[in-house]
Amino acid sequence: MDDNTTTPVTVLGLGLMGRALAGAFLKAGHPTTVWNRTAGKADRLVAEGARSAPTVGDAVEPGRLAVICVTDYRAVREALGAADVKLDGTTLINLTSGDSGQARETARWAEARGARYLDGAIMAIPSTIGTPDAVILQSGTRSDFDAHASALGALGTVTYLGADHGLASLYDVSGLAMMWSVLNAWLQGTALLRTAGVDAAAYAPFAQQIAAGVATWLPGYAEQIDRGSFPAEVSSLETDVRAMAHLIEESEAAGVGTELPRLIKAMADRAIAAGHGKEQYPVLIEEFGKPGAR
Ligand SMILES: NC(=O)c1ccc[n+]([C@@H]2O[C@H](COP(=O)([O-])OP(=O)(O)OC[C@H]3O[C@@H](n4cnc5c(N)ncnc54)[C@H](OP(=O)(O)O)[C@@H]3O)[C@@H](O)[C@H]2O)c1
Repeated sequence: MDDNTTTPVTVLGLGLMGRALAGAFLKAGHPTTVWNRTAGKADRLVAEGARSAPTVGDAVEPGRLAVICVTDYRAVREALGAADVKLDGTTLINLTSGDSGQARETARWAEARGARYLDGAIMAIPSTIGTPDAVILQSGTRSDFDAHASALGALGTVTYLGADHGLASLYDVSGLAMMWSVLNAWLQGTALLRTAGVDAAAYAPFAQQIAAGVATWLPGYAEQIDRGSFPAEVSSLETDVRAMAHLIEESEAAGVGTELPRLIKAMADRAIAAGHGKEQYPVLIEEFGKPGAR
């Protein structure tokens, strides 16, 4: 079954993100019921056609799709744990940010109460919700996702990741690791170039080009990681480490922080000490952990 714009939905939690989610459902034509712990936040949505439920128990009913988006998983359990809430027969989609362990635990908790449960992560800001720019990740039982993929499509670009309820959270934090690493690398270069009078704005296009170029290496490097074989087709780790030393020296000489370059080199040094100097950069995956080592 795939639902359409006539599918009734409930949105629990009307913070900045919850209001955006409810607004997108309304705009797409879904009869939308909303609930928030603190009164008043539903007013504008009600003016746009939403029904404001007085309690979570009233907002959630069998066969209805319920989306919850509150501060954290503790708030999820508080809101849904109220005595009058019957989850039996509902599909609950949790778009609250958290970690994969919380997602898996909440899935077990909700399923034990008769709900179908999908966990999700929103990699977007409220103003993009309802547009293709809003990236929304989903994990849980495939048939539950398929049943509601159309309704979820009102929120943005929705990607199903797999049956493990923890996957959406894991992809979320992995994406953040990418984002912060790129930003920190850019800031290191910006700080260095500012010592020579180069504005951040002058360096930004060059940095953007480098970041985009490096991103094209990922699929090939990923193949090496999945094969567990790292032939140095472009450069060896030993060559990279010499350049890392230059980055540290330049930073030190310029009075720019060396914390990040030293961390990068320390990891490469460890891999070389373990005998990987003639191999290619992604061999460093072993410095980050081994599959199954949770
Ligand atoms: N905003 C963003 O750009 C963004 C982006 C990606 C993901 N997210 C995620 O979306 C979630 C919501 O973020 P937000 O920006 O909407 O936060 P927010 O504006 O601070 O709103 C928090 C919401 O959680 C509710 N809440 C907190 N504790 C509760 C409890 N114990 N019981 C019931 N409701 C409770 C609040 O209700 P009251 O009104 O009663 O306080 C409010 O509706 C977070 O997990 C956040 O990480 C947000």
